[in-house]
Amino acid sequence: MSRPRERDPRGPGEGATYRREGIRFRAPVLTPRFPSEVPFGFVGRLLPTTEPIELRLEAHRLSTGEALRLLHGARAVVEAELAHGATEIGPELDAERASAEELGRALARRTQELWKVGAVWIANGLSRPRAEAVRLRLIERLQGLGFRARIPRYEVAEAVRPASLTGAEPRPTGYWQTLPTDGVAALFPFADETIVEPGGVLVGLGLADASPVFLDRWAHGSYSWGIFGATGAGKSFTAGLLVLRSLWTRPETEVVVLDPLGEYGALVRALGGEVIDLAAGRSGRLNPLDPVTTGGDRREKAARVAAMLRALFPSLLDEEAAALDAAVHGLMADRDRVPTLADLVRRVTEGPGAGGRLAALLAVFASGSLAYLDGPTTIHPTAPLVAVSFRGVPADQLPFHLAYVLDWAYGRLRDRPGPKLLVIDEAHLLARHRPTAEFLDRTVRHVRHFDAGVIVVSQSPEDLLLEPSGRSLLRNLYAVALLRLPEVSNEARAFLGLSGAEAEWLPKARLPKECGYAESLWRIGDLHLPLAIVASTPEFQFLSAALGAGPVAGPDDAARSGSL
Ligand SMILES: Nc1ncnc2c1ncn2[C@@H]1O[C@H](COP(=O)(O)OP(=O)(O)OP(=O)(O)O)[C@@H](O)[C@H]1O
Ligand SMILES: [Mg+2]
Repeated sequence: MSRPRERDPRGPGEGATYRREGIRFRAPVLTPRFPSEVPFGFVGRLLPTTEPIELRLEAHRLSTGEALRLLHGARAVVEAELAHGATEIGPELDAERASAEELGRALARRTQELWKVGAVWIANGLSRPRAEAVRLRLIERLQGLGFRARIPRYEVAEAVRPASLTGAEPRPTGYWQTLPTDGVAALFPFADETIVEPGGVLVGLGLADASPVFLDRWAHGSYSWGIFGATGAGKSFTAGLLVLRSLWTRPETEVVVLDPLGEYGALVRALGGEVIDLAAGRSGRLNPLDPVTTGGDRREKAARVAAMLRALFPSLLDEEAAALDAAVHGLMADRDRVPTLADLVRRVTEGPGAGGRLAALLAVFASGSLAYLDGPTTIHPTAPLVAVSFRGVPADQLPFHLAYVLDWAYGRLRDRPGPKLLVIDEAHLLARHRPTAEFLDRTVRHVRHFDAGVIVVSQSPEDLLLEPSGRSLLRNLYAVALLRLPEVSNEARAFLGLSGAEAEWLPKARLPKECGYAESLWRIGDLHLPLAIVASTPEFQFLSAALGAGPVAGPDDAARSGSL
């Protein structure tokens, strides 16, 4: 069968679902149902500048009489359905009735009007498959935001024809919508997505138009942010940059860095801070059992100690864990003493049913590689900036060290006045064990009460999706910077509310070594912004010298051997 209209390379041609105009193929989509809510700036998410898509909109205001008639009609339908006992969709209908009533009042007050809105999305391409691929991705993004999408079949000409002044020409089903003024405003495609929060820090420049984005961490419900990215994506650099910029805007900010790789030491020293070198007790000791970290709350302390010990001995059987918990709680009950690890070992080896494997495991504190932790705390840093370096700590002991240092840092954040920042690099080390993941989540949720925010740094958001507490933590981060990621699973995509195009872009985001800055996608509240994280020349020089310096030179530097 010949289809001459489709073959003519010059003239318009039309297939069932596309139309050819000159050298362009045009593949339209209609949206018969809009979601009840859309995020601010959603049109930008649906129409990224990399995709050749047009959105054609026409809006015709309805007279007040027409609007009220329409509304009464809609309300009557809902009332009838409710009266006929459509019980399984009752709550939805109730909501519809309530919103119809609210809209009626707004119409009467003239704060809202009703509009007849025509919308068609047209994907373009130089070949039919290209136009259709663009349309497919668009449909995915539309559905991701809750739109119902429909490809007009045999109605392409009616769908793509230009708008007229009257809006009277025939259009396919799904073209027209009735929207209140707010709905029309939300469709306005030139929404200014730039965020400039007074008193905030520069987090990046828009990748599309270089518009700067300033965020004030202290102006939102959660002061905590996350930075995720593949190795070399620029996470630690970004964390350092945010610390620097935070100190410029609020010099009184105190900072604690949990630094598993020992990268931040030079930076913290250059800013007048102290570095605690944890491996083998080089800088002294933080007694993991000291209840000072919970402000003397011994029950809470016992729970945290139990979590730390489980991170150190992941193979504990249930009954061993229970015996250990009992020993820890018993130890904490003696209010006159600050317990030490030797006390714990004694309790376990001398208590009822003692000995066995548990005692053997705990020997690491008595005579093994962690014996240096036995005794009272000797480290009392007074500087406003402190980095705790875990460099040189054996990999299997890292989660344990991180856990008790997090507990110590929590106590410090609580006890010191003013704004504080806690940077936790390589946070996946805590997120992978349930007890420490739970503690990390609690920390992120609670430190706000002490004027403190956390910067959680990890390789992949997937690390946090493994446990409910990790997901809770992710939900409590006000801003999340996604740098280059090796891949984005469907689960992560759904959890973070990323569109298909965003998930496809993240593995292609350019690395600092490729372009001199870090390409990133920021999720700030409901907003998604592709940003370049750019350092000024002095910032870059300062940070790359300090962060690139590796372990800080010290008296016994030659003896250092990083096991990481
Ligand atoms: N925004 C940036 N502008 C310029 N250079 C950057 C930027 N971010 C990172 N870099 C450079 O890129 C390199 C890698 O950065 P960084 O160490 O922060 O990566 P990372 O994500 O923390 O990696 P890892 O997972 O290995 O810790 C460093 O040399 C750093 O100086
Ligand atoms: Mg790093």
